[in-house]
Amino acid sequence: MGLEFEDRVVLVTGGANGIGAGVARKLAGLGARVVVADVDTAGGEAVADAVGGLFVPCDVRDPRDSEAAVAEAVRACGGLDVAVLNAGVATGFGLGDDFDAERYRAVMGVNLDGVVYGVHAALPELRKRGGHIIATASMAGLMAMPLDPVYGANKAAVVALVRALGPVLAADGVRVNAVCPSFADTAIIAGFESVLRTSGMPVLTVAEVVDAYLAVLRAGGTGECWYVQAGRPSEPFRFPNPPGPRADGGAPVALRDPSQEG
Ligand SMILES: NC(=O)c1ccc[n+]([C@@H]2O[C@H](COP(=O)([O-])OP(=O)(O)OC[C@H]3O[C@@H](n4cnc5c(N)ncnc54)[C@H](O)[C@@H]3O)[C@@H](O)[C@H]2O)c1
Repeated sequence: MGLEFEDRVVLVTGGANGIGAGVARKLAGLGARVVVADVDTAGGEAVADAVGGLFVPCDVRDPRDSEAAVAEAVRACGGLDVAVLNAGVATGFGLGDDFDAERYRAVMGVNLDGVVYGVHAALPELRKRGGHIIATASMAGLMAMPLDPVYGANKAAVVALVRALGPVLAADGVRVNAVCPSFADTAIIAGFESVLRTSGMPVLTVAEVVDAYLAVLRAGGTGECWYVQAGRPSEPFRFPNPPGPRADGGAPVALRDPSQEG
């Protein structure tokens, strides 16, 4: 019997380190052909070599780089089945005196634009044979993140994007989901590790987070945001329904999109 992801082509942005590298290694071990896309050339090449995959230099802030990464997957592997849009950075400043507009654009560029550009670049290939997009959001996108409000804002935007795209792309045979980890043991938490330690906050291992990607790939859902919290099995977060409008007679009203109706 073949391996679970035999010959499936997987693109991982931010695959040179941390969670992305863990996903790349795990899926390659299960038979996938992995394309690592990252700004970190040395790290990306090392991961690609270790998994018998391919490295593509890619700054996800530039839409042309995402297009080039997908094109390289198609050239080298004949198509694309899974896009793991995972590249991300912490902010390192707030909205007070420390605010820096240029760095703000940079972090929004990586954490939000990078996912938008990645979806746009991957869609034509994923539509060809059915596929899966998994964006790395964060618990910071599901709850308040006072340690890094701008990070919370761009991760919440990724959550909203995934929820909206789920039903839109279902008709094309493309699933889109998010993984929302709590604090995990990677370089990104270096700036506030002491706060975590003082608070007694458990820090997830990369392996624990990677398991959530496998669970999402194996489940059949779309438009879901899976939380990853220490001591709990990962599952899709159940969003509360906000109050909707009522018509004059009191009946609920929902948006109807004629383009989605047969
Ligand atoms: N570690 C955590 O506590 C945690 C929690 C929730 C969500 N996340 C998210 O997980 C994802 C992976 O982060 P990580 O924890 O593995 O951190 P990491 O720093 O180990 O890995 C991030 C990767 O993204 C790459 N990257 C940064 N900017 C890039 C760009 N412009 N273009 C392409 N690649 C770029 C880095 O080179 C690195 O390889 C991020 O989206 C992060 O926000 C992490």
